[in-house]
Amino acid sequence: MRSRSFFLASALAAFTGLAAATPTPTDPEPPSKRASLPIVTASGNAFWQGNTRFYVRGVDYQPGGSSLAADPLADTTVCQRDIAEFKKLGINTIRVYIIDNSANHDTCMNALADAGIYVIIDANNPLYSINRLDPGPSYNAVYLQSVFATIDEFIKYDNTLAFFSGNEVINDNVNSTLSARYVKATTRDMRQYIGNRGYRKVPVGYSAADVSQNRMQLAQYMNCGTDDERSDFFAFNDYSWCNTDFVTSGWDQKVKNFTDYGLPIFLSEYGCISNGRDFGEIAALMSKQMTGVYSGGLMYEYALEENKFGIAEIASVDSPTVKELPEFSKFAKVLSANPAPTGDGGAASTTHSVACPTKDASWLVDSTLLPAIPESAKNYMKEGAGSGPGLKGDGSQNAGGTSTGDAAPGSGTVTGTPSSSKNAGGATFTGPADKAPLIVAGLVFVLTLTGSLLL
Ligand SMILES: *[C@@H]1O[C@H](CO)[C@@H](O)[C@H](O)[C@H]1NC(C)=O
Ligand SMILES: *[C@@H]1O[C@H](CO)[C@@H](O)[C@H](O)[C@H]1NC(C)=O
Repeated sequence: MRSRSFFLASALAAFTGLAAATPTPTDPEPPSKRASLPIVTASGNAFWQGNTRFYVRGVDYQPGGSSLAADPLADTTVCQRDIAEFKKLGINTIRVYIIDNSANHDTCMNALADAGIYVIIDANNPLYSINRLDPGPSYNAVYLQSVFATIDEFIKYDNTLAFFSGNEVINDNVNSTLSARYVKATTRDMRQYIGNRGYRKVPVGYSAADVSQNRMQLAQYMNCGTDDERSDFFAFNDYSWCNTDFVTSGWDQKVKNFTDYGLPIFLSEYGCISNGRDFGEIAALMSKQMTGVYSGGLMYEYALEENKFGIAEIASVDSPTVKELPEFSKFAKVLSANPAPTGDGGAASTTHSVACPTKDASWLVDSTLLPAIPESAKNYMKEGAGSGPGLKGDGSQNAGGTSTGDAAPGSGTVTGTPSSSKNAGGATFTGPADKAPLIVAGLVFVLTLTGSLLL
């Protein structure tokens, strides 16, 4: 099972032989702002839509897969074809792995909002990403510029639910655990960027491969240390259900081990096709057995690719029609038969950190210090990232401008907010008032003492 998820990880992380991305249609004018979905926030160990608990009930969405490597939300024909199908499924969230941060997303994002659907965005892509076996050089200013430009592009939509700071960068090669420092630094930088730019606090977290040798250490690592270094949530990709049950799949142990983890958790991919597929995961995820610890999940995946996980067959990426496979209606039925529970589902009302893992044979990180943000990336915090590179160019992994040392804990604390409009992608940063950094630092300190960081 792990090899299956590892296979998916490799497929998405390797990204060789990129085909040219579909040409991006241009919208003459951004559509006027419509009645939008209520914003979802992370608080305690759960997500909330106002006072209502929010569960991720969605699918992973990347038609054409990693070989096409095209942004489906930049192509209005593609997204509108599939949004019609999403409505039939009754989902409330999609995850998109490959985003063109130079493209316009108004039409697709607004159509998704109209359909009641939130979006979780992977902030890296095949070209702009951390290299798991040579992470140091790949954590650089060119990489961060692309990541920040993706935030700029999606922060303006109320139905942006969360950002992933990485997907399965750490895998079952023990050496890849050393890349966790760079993924965590990226998470820190993204959260600081969102704060310093005065944006809505869209949650940022990592999407992990489910590797038994490092499952707990990685989760602990992403939620240890100072508040600026901790994630807003944790997610992992789980392929262990395989038409069994809560206990046979080992999910009972995963609930037990993640109880009191201190952050929201959801499954960023779930699915197993080796033993038929009845989507029994959904009944478990929506049951009291899990809702105190987990906030739902994303079924892997919508579009049928070579790996055969998909539930919708699309002849070619721009084909006008979709063939619904038998699993399509099965998934819709199970989803509708297992609605989100009412009430708080047993969620914890406060968040807290956990202890950092110690180095051992399967976890090689021996320091709690993170690499400092690369010097040449600091300017983005003040000036904004500017135009994104899209899915073109040479990529970032060997672009230079890397970190030159470790940062003191607290280095990612929000130090200023732009004086002009909130939540606007083009907000101009004019520099913090003299007292702002101290005030913000003091606030974080107080919240840490009370054990609740609800910002
Ligand atoms: C991990 O790195 C060490 C030291 O560079 C090397 O000897 C070892 O073969 C690597 N292990 C794997 C699984 O690649
Ligand atoms: C649960 O945690 C224990 C102790 O850390 C560990 O030995 C075990 O493998 C974990 N189980 C799962 C399913 O993660």
